[in-house]
Amino acid sequence: MRKKKIVVECKNVTKIYNLGKDNETVGVKNINLKIYNGEKIVILGPSGSGKSTLLHLIGLIDKPTKGKITINGKDVSKMSDDEMAMIRREKIGFVFQFFQLIPSLNAIENVLLPMVLAGRRDESRALELLKMVGLEKRIKHFPNQLSGGEQQRVAIARALANDPEIIIADEPTGNLDSKTGYQIVKILDSLNKKFGKTLIIVTHNRELTDIARRVVHIRDGKIIKEVRK
Ligand SMILES: Nc1ncnc2c1ncn2[C@@H]1O[C@H](COP(=O)(O)OP(=O)(O)OP(=O)(O)O)[C@@H](O)[C@H]1O
Ligand SMILES: [Mg+2]
Repeated sequence: MRKKKIVVECKNVTKIYNLGKDNETVGVKNINLKIYNGEKIVILGPSGSGKSTLLHLIGLIDKPTKGKITINGKDVSKMSDDEMAMIRREKIGFVFQFFQLIPSLNAIENVLLPMVLAGRRDESRALELLKMVGLEKRIKHFPNQLSGGEQQRVAIARALANDPEIIIADEPTGNLDSKTGYQIVKILDSLNKKFGKTLIIVTHNRELTDIARRVVHIRDGKIIKEVRK
């Protein structure tokens, strides 16, 4: 069997939030994790366990205090801020709990935004992505004119705008009822199945582990166990 490529690797990664003298909080501690190309992984843990912290590190939104993170073999600590921003834009698509759409932009403009920032605005691609998530009839709607599930589908289309290798989702169903949440999980799952996107989902909701082949349990900033199915 061909050996799978490692897309993300964390080696002894620690993030301490320093809010001034005698006020340090551990975000994550000594995380060792290898994520392979095309994998579907759920990181499961209670509130405050370090899930978002870890995703922000993997997603190049933040930098570790200690340890090393590599993306496609490239050491993140050796990257300039510009290079980090470029990789974040080109390689990683984010989906968040609170959707984080731009309220003043309609659905298609929200999906176009990452393309515009990358200098390749492509309306037909944006339309295609919105079609893929079943929103071709909502392209001119603004976020406040869409249901939660629809907003999250726009966010998924936006995450795919620049055709990233990795999709990172932080509690993607946290603000949705369970039926709508299930639809969203199915869409995310299909991105992995159909297009081979590496999918990293963080949640406290055990139900989301159904789709994963690999579940990493995190508690108090540490990986406490890993289950492969
Ligand atoms: N910007 C910050 N400054 C200081 N402390 C922080 C910051 N962000 C997170 N923390 C702390 O780091 C720890 C891990 O937080 P994190 O947000 O990663 O948890 P989480 O698992 O995502 O929780 P939730 O399920 O509630 O979203 C918590 O103790 C939190 O208080
Ligand atoms: Mg969180």
